[in-house]
Order: sequence, then structure tokens, then C-alpha cells
Amino acid sequence: FLAATATLALAAGANTAVAACDDGEIVIKFSHVTNSDRHPKGIAATLLAERVNEEMNGKACMEVFPNSTLYNDDQVLEAMLQGDVQMAAPSLSKFEQFTKVFRIFDLPFMFKDINAVDGFQNSETGQAMKESMTRRGLLGLQFWHNGMKQISANKALVSPADAAGLKFRVQPSEVIKAQIEALGASPQPMAFSEVYGALQTGVVDGQENTWSNIYGQKFFEVQDGTTETNHGIIDYMVVTNVDWWESLPEDVRTQLGTILEEVTVARNAAVGQVDSDARQSVLDAGGVIRELNAEQRQAWVDAMKPVWEQFVGDVGQENIDAAQSFNN
Ligand code: LMR
Repeated sequence: FLAATATLALAAGANTAVAACDDGEIVIKFSHVTNSDRHPKGIAATLLAERVNEEMNGKACMEVFPNSTLYNDDQVLEAMLQGDVQMAAPSLSKFEQFTKVFRIFDLPFMFKDINAVDGFQNSETGQAMKESMTRRGLLGLQFWHNGMKQISANKALVSPADAAGLKFRVQPSEVIKAQIEALGASPQPMAFSEVYGALQTGVVDGQENTWSNIYGQKFFEVQDGTTETNHGIIDYMVVTNVDWWESLPEDVRTQLGTILEEVTVARNAAVGQVDSDARQSVLDAGGVIRELNAEQRQAWVDAMKPVWEQFVGDVGQENIDAAQSFNN
């Protein structure tokens, strides 16, 4: 147990918060793709590890691997099924191979804000989604928030017509692909860690993401500007391997589950601040943010929202209605 070393390593801005595990401790590797100190997911994972390493000393030990240093999101779930990593928190757009129930979260303009997402996730329908992949070996433990998505390109995007003909990096989600196609643009699925280089070299023209990702990955440096559409969300599922979870001694599983829940409640309540800090940091670093008036924004709604029709069958009209009820 070396919490002090892990803290020092973090303070020095090191890439990994690796706590040396003692013999006999259950090793929990947590792999993710963002930075660890300026991002909702990174901060939550760091806090989780600090608490596990302090409060479960002698029983369990958590090592966090941020910034895609261990796995990309397209590798991590397979690695989890192999037992090479025990926890991760991929965005809900990354589970396409395992379940379609998360497609509702990618539908553009489904949720007004993260409070609405929170309300829906905490409903019976949302909570049931945590168990939607158990047959495939994955168990959802908690939802973690990030924020609303914005869109950027190597040219000014004001009207949706400005996006026509461009290539946009997307997460590997059928809904997001359809949303980009609805703009007359072409979607290019790509790992998060490769996006900056692809924007810089012109492999893609644009991307969509949250302020903490746009700032954290410095996308704004290689884009004309970012348009504040708030057209969708990025949120996460903290996920584990069902067999590993069930193999844990009951007291360990209970304590770990409680710490995770407490960290979730605390950090989900703080995401608004992390999001607005990241937005301000983009401005401070010289990034351009384009705000839309109500009429301009409505044009994006009109262009993107028709994709709902393609996915009603997958997500269920009753779930759409339930989600929409949290926008009031
Ligand atoms: C992305 O791939 O753009 C995001 O899911 C990355 C992340 O984890 O926020």
C-alpha cells in the first residue's frame, strides 16, 4: 500500500496512479482514456482509487491507468472479459457490441441537460440498464456523468448545412453515425486517443465532444472553432466482469460497492463545475466558441432529430417517453 506515492505521482502529473499492491490484496485495475485531474471521469477514478487504497488497505488495491495508457475503449471490454482489467468506465456509446439499450443516450436532443440524464438513469428503466449485459459477462455498477456535446470542424459551423460534405470523427455508435449522416456529412469511427492527430493532419475535418474532452485533448487547437449546440450527451457506465465481481468475498464486494456509490454521488454532483471550468479553459487558451441563438439552434434540432425514427424500434417509444419526462 503506497497511497503517498500514488498521490505524489499524481501531483507530479504522472500518467498513472499506480499503487503498489501488497501480497494478498485483491488487485483492481481501472483503465480509462481521459486525463486524471481536469476531467469528470479522471477525477472520479482517481478519487475512487485513493479511497479504496486507504479504506481497503490489506484487502484490495486499485491501480488506475488513464489516458489510454493500458487500453483504448475498443479494447477494454474484451480485456475485461479476459480478466486483464477489472474496471473501466467507457462512454455509453461504446457498448454497441454488447447491448442496444444505451442507444437512447446517443439520440440527439433527447436530454435537455445532465440533470435530466441523471433523473432517467435513476429511474427503474435506467437502473435496469446496468444489468443489460450480464449475459455477455459485463455488469454495470454505476453511471458517471460528463456533459453535453458540442460540435467543431476546420471551418465555421453555424448552420447544419455548414457541416455537409465534411468528415467527422465519431464514437462507434450507430446512432451517432446516423446523426452525422443526417447532416450530409460522413462519420469516421476512431479511438479517442487518435482524434487529435486525425484532426491535425486532416484525416477528419471535425468532431463532437464535451468541453472537458475538447479541452483535455486540445481539439480546439486544431479546429476553426467549436459550436455550442448542446446537441447530445456523453455519459459513462462503470463496468466490471460479472464473474470477477461475484467471486469477491462478500465484505470486499459490499465495501467496494459502497465506496463506488459514494464517489459516484459526490462526483456526479460536481460535473457542472468541471464542465464549465473546461469551457472557460478553452476560451482562456484562445479557442473560439460559437454560441447559437434560438433560431440557429432550432436548425440543428430540425436537421438531427429525425434520426430518432430510425431507432425507435431499438430503444422503445415507452423509454423515449420516460426519458423525455425528465426534461420538464
Ligand atoms: C470519446 O471517445 O470521445 C469519449 O467517449 C471519450 C471519453 O471517455 O470521454
